[in-house]
Amino acid sequence: MSPLPPGSYSPPNDRWGSFTKLVTRLPEGSVAVVDRTVARFHPTLIPAIEARKPRAIIQLVGGERAKSLISLQKVLAGGITLPRSGTLVAVGGGTVGDVATVAAHLLKRGVRLLQVPTTLLAAVDSSLGGKGAVDLVVRGRVVKNPAGVFHYADETWLCPELYATLSDAQVREGSIEAWKMVASLDASLFKRYVRTPPKLEKLVKDARGLKEGVCAKDPYEHQGLRRVLNFGHTFGHVLESLSRFKLSHGDAVGLGILWALDVGRHLGITPEPVAHEVERALARGPGVLGRDRAAEIAQRAPLKDVVALLDADKKAGANGELRMVLLTAVGTAEVVDVMPKTWRALWPAWTRGARP
Ligand SMILES: NC(=O)c1ccc[n+]([C@@H]2O[C@H](COP(=O)([O-])OP(=O)(O)OC[C@H]3O[C@@H](n4cnc5c(N)ncnc54)[C@H](O)[C@@H]3O)[C@@H](O)[C@H]2O)c1
Ligand SMILES: [Zn+2]
Repeated sequence: MSPLPPGSYSPPNDRWGSFTKLVTRLPEGSVAVVDRTVARFHPTLIPAIEARKPRAIIQLVGGERAKSLISLQKVLAGGITLPRSGTLVAVGGGTVGDVATVAAHLLKRGVRLLQVPTTLLAAVDSSLGGKGAVDLVVRGRVVKNPAGVFHYADETWLCPELYATLSDAQVREGSIEAWKMVASLDASLFKRYVRTPPKLEKLVKDARGLKEGVCAKDPYEHQGLRRVLNFGHTFGHVLESLSRFKLSHGDAVGLGILWALDVGRHLGITPEPVAHEVERALARGPGVLGRDRAAEIAQRAPLKDVVALLDADKKAGANGELRMVLLTAVGTAEVVDVMPKTWRALWPAWTRGARP
């Protein structure tokens, strides 16, 4: 265990192996937060934790609802007897990981956290970088992530057998987030991926390495360096919301990347061959959805709703400009303020499903 106070930044300590083997590292008397679906799919999981004599095992139903204050209360109450030197282990996707991270930060003003990501998205993205958050209900609407913390995990266990129960759509989602990092941060890796699509484990290792490279320079997000990780997220979030979350986050980000490439081309920032290459790679690699899917969602949306969503996005500036991540080359991204007239010029093509 790290000698630093619980939750402090230190380079990630990733351990690969089967859960039943790694769980022997869990200190006795820990508290576990487990996604109920994962426990059902993997029946040896709970008995393996029980063998470590935990104080409590709290099961949550994975999904965005797990990030409520009600679940947080459940985890805090379950962990109430944990001493300051104790450990909280989170076994689940990004939602269980996020709420457990907040709980680890609050319990006894900070206890040690172990992360066991069980979705690909959690493995490549949410279980790394120290962030956790819960959602709030404000005037009847769920607002995502307004109450959050930085609390880094001491260790992350990556157990490939747990990913075997993910659906194709779940694998695609996580893969898109991983390819996002490769396309915007590492040109030579991108070229290798285009030649030979990576196996799942390699994808996870590479994406974690790339994300860590960014987080290490700005672990508490004081310098804005982590913004680059938002490639594809400006319009990705808009599409996700407009679809009323029927479109999954990863799929929305994939389509958001296509639109970010269009914006970059339109401004002369992203060279045409770069945009073409990345779009083709995303289709052949992780399998980004077609532009017609984005059009279907965008067509039905009043423009004022789109503007409201972009304004509400924390990346929007005071004059309606969007702080977008655009590619200048494969593997190199830049944060650019994009004026509304730019995306408005592209909107008619987007709503037809055409490449502007
Ligand atoms: N903290 C961060 O830095 C960060 C980064 C990105 C995303 N996030 C957050 O992550 C969340 C999304 O994460 P997610 O996509 O993992 O969602 P999730 O936790 O809701 O998991 C998706 C679904 O998969 C199920 N599931 C989990 N593991 C499974 C397995 N091994 N086999 C079969 N089904 C399984 C879950 O029960 C759930 O129904 C969002 O709330 C997002 O805000 C956080
Ligand atoms: Zn994302």
